[in-house]
Amino acid sequence: MVACSDSGSTEQDNPDETDTSDDSSTDSEEEEAADEGEEEQVTIVYARGVDTTPATEAVIKAFEEKNPNIKVEQREMPADTGQSHDQYVTLLSSQSSEIDVFNADVIWPAEFAQANYVLELDRFIEKDGINMEDYFPGTVAAANFNGKQWAMPQYTDAGVFYYRTDIVDEPPKTWDELIEMAGELKGEAGTEHGYLMQAAQYEGLITNAIEYIASYGGEVVDEDNNVVVDSPETIKALEKMQEIVTSDFVPENILNFMETETENAWIEGNAVFARNWPYMMSSSNDEERSEIVGNVEMARLPAGDEGTASALGGWMTMINRYSEHPEAAWEFVKFISGPEGQKISAVEGGRPPTLSALYDDPEVQDVSTLFANPEFREVLQTAVPRPVSPIYPEVSDIMQIEISKVLTGDQTPEDAAANMQTKIEEAMAE
Ligand code: GLC
Repeated sequence: MVACSDSGSTEQDNPDETDTSDDSSTDSEEEEAADEGEEEQVTIVYARGVDTTPATEAVIKAFEEKNPNIKVEQREMPADTGQSHDQYVTLLSSQSSEIDVFNADVIWPAEFAQANYVLELDRFIEKDGINMEDYFPGTVAAANFNGKQWAMPQYTDAGVFYYRTDIVDEPPKTWDELIEMAGELKGEAGTEHGYLMQAAQYEGLITNAIEYIASYGGEVVDEDNNVVVDSPETIKALEKMQEIVTSDFVPENILNFMETETENAWIEGNAVFARNWPYMMSSSNDEERSEIVGNVEMARLPAGDEGTASALGGWMTMINRYSEHPEAAWEFVKFISGPEGQKISAVEGGRPPTLSALYDDPEVQDVSTLFANPEFREVLQTAVPRPVSPIYPEVSDIMQIEISKVLTGDQTPEDAAANMQTKIEEAMAE
């Protein structure tokens, strides 16, 4: 294992030192300098996907006020997590120091840890006495690989159901009820569509599919890491998904819908129901952008035969192993994943905290009745993860292709389930 230096927060560092230094005298001099407040001005680059909420700006502002010696420059990455992933891999595999800190999707840590792209955070966590037990255990576990902590949980995500309170009192409880209600209610209150979801061929499609599959009692990979996707449950789930995607109550171009398209159509008041992540509550109530302020509530997703299931999403913060400013980067990571940063992200961005105590905070509870509901903590903690694997991107690509073919009518759900089974097995055996 490569040891990493503590000496990051000054301009004269170079990335090679970051990699090899175990010079403890440098460390203690640095610490003394820091204690005396003699730190130099540092600029760190923080990369993250598009944020349509005011949260990122607000977090950076609050951090800079508290840390006048550290400036945070933002680098905006694509909204599509798969595209962001590929750009990070290009950048990190070339050992570039262009970015210092970045947001990592919950599906990346195994791969990034194995490729040694990022710094282990254990010594920072210990040094600052951060209690990892304050965080939801699943989010800590998701960032732990080979016994080391590679990221700090920033916010968690679980697929949720949005409904218009000016159109319905109660959201549908099952997919079949959704189909009925969406068909009947589309057109009410100026809406064009009954339902919006993410059906484009990209990572978000997998999260939607996992929800259908789990709601019918199916799984992709079981707890012993066996591929079990070819099952009657998966087939039923894909049939239901296909029925919804090809219905006349979703937009005609639903196969191009990612989160952004969903959000835009939703806040324009174009739909009765939608599936998205909790952040869309913030956009829904944004006076400047939304036509439906005050008319939106979140609920659990509709159930299949086995109940309701939410896919586990979420983002963590990682430090580039080749950052020239690991100390300053850590200060930012600590802030953004700490109580203050997470509260801003919840209140300004509608993002569910990973620090459980924040759900008792009245301002966080004000975000939505779902945040205020203790059962929602359960939802977040029991959300269904995608397969955890260093080759997850490959698994996802296979699923994206096979499921898309079902949605376009080019393949039956039976064939998709069988193809996913063989192809994922092959990929995992390599
Ligand atoms: C959200 C989730 C993330 C997921 C992505 C899919 O950003 O937090 O985990 O991969 O959506 O589009």
